[in-house]
Amino acid sequence: MYETVKVSEFPTLRLLNLVNEVFEDYPLHVEWDLFSFNQDVRENSISLSDSYVFLKDDRPVGFILCCVRRSRGRIDSMGVIKEERGKGLGGKMLSFALDVLRNRGVSSVVLEVLASQEEVVKFYSKFGFRVTRRLVSMIKNVPNPRPSIRFLKTERESIHKSALEAMVRLSRRPNWQREPLTLLLSGDRYKMARVGQRLAGYVVWGKGEENAFIVDCSPINDESIYAELLEQAVNYVCQVEERSVCFVGNVPEDDPLYRAAEQAGFQPLFEQYEMLLQL
Ligand SMILES: CC(C)(COP(=O)(O)OP(=O)(O)OC[C@H]1O[C@@H](n2cnc3c(N)ncnc32)[C@H](O)[C@@H]1OP(=O)(O)O)[C@@H](O)C(=O)NCCC(=O)NCCS
Repeated sequence: MYETVKVSEFPTLRLLNLVNEVFEDYPLHVEWDLFSFNQDVRENSISLSDSYVFLKDDRPVGFILCCVRRSRGRIDSMGVIKEERGKGLGGKMLSFALDVLRNRGVSSVVLEVLASQEEVVKFYSKFGFRVTRRLVSMIKNVPNPRPSIRFLKTERESIHKSALEAMVRLSRRPNWQREPLTLLLSGDRYKMARVGQRLAGYVVWGKGEENAFIVDCSPINDESIYAELLEQAVNYVCQVEERSVCFVGNVPEDDPLYRAAEQAGFQPLFEQYEMLLQL
């Protein structure tokens, strides 16, 4: 009844129309254009040849986008157009993608889901996915940003190296979207800077229309300065970007960045669950 086409063989603009239609009624704003889609593909290791569009009578009605990093997989996003939901297609797409990933040598699959979407959490649970941790998105007002230390803009290869070091030394547990590899693959999408001496660390950030956002921030070897470094980084990025609100998305509750964000005065905005399936 459904025809399956690899995303790598499907016109990208048609895919984006489908994705944007599916997420029209989603609680978070999702709107991909060609540029942001290509950035997400590269940065999150979305494998277009392991991702699929499902067609019914030649009409695209569902999609599933999968990421692969060696033996680790991730469902980046999936969805079914409104009038086709609840008829079994979502389940078919997920089983299909999990088979593809299994055959590709993937042994674990991770995904993120909004904690408020209980139906969707249940949907993934039926396939064996289990909630492993909360990812908290947080916000802080910075009405008068003024850092008191110097940040130096740095290229991503050096930030990647620091992020790898920080991961080991601080026992960091980053989620997929802030893994050191993600930072390395992000091209020139984000800005990156480092600090030396006592507050040795780095910050990776971007800006939206209304706020600056921190992709990642970490000391390199001293966890005790985390909150202080983050506080300085927030002031720095808000000053550089001329924003008075700073956002940090999907912070894992068991990563030291989470405690630092709380200590630096960030307030929770919404929560996602990270769910994991061992194949
Ligand atoms: C989640 C989603 C992909 C499920 O696809 P689907 O085709 O409706 O799924 P199925 O018909 O195979 O299974 C339906 C199950 O999903 C759950 N579900 C979640 N959202 C649903 C919705 N909006 N409509 C119907 N069922 C939904 C139901 O609990 C249902 O369980 P049941 O079989 O015990 O009744 C689809 O609802 C969707 O595209 N939602 C919007 C986008 C989204 O939330 N994507 C997931 C996060 S990236």
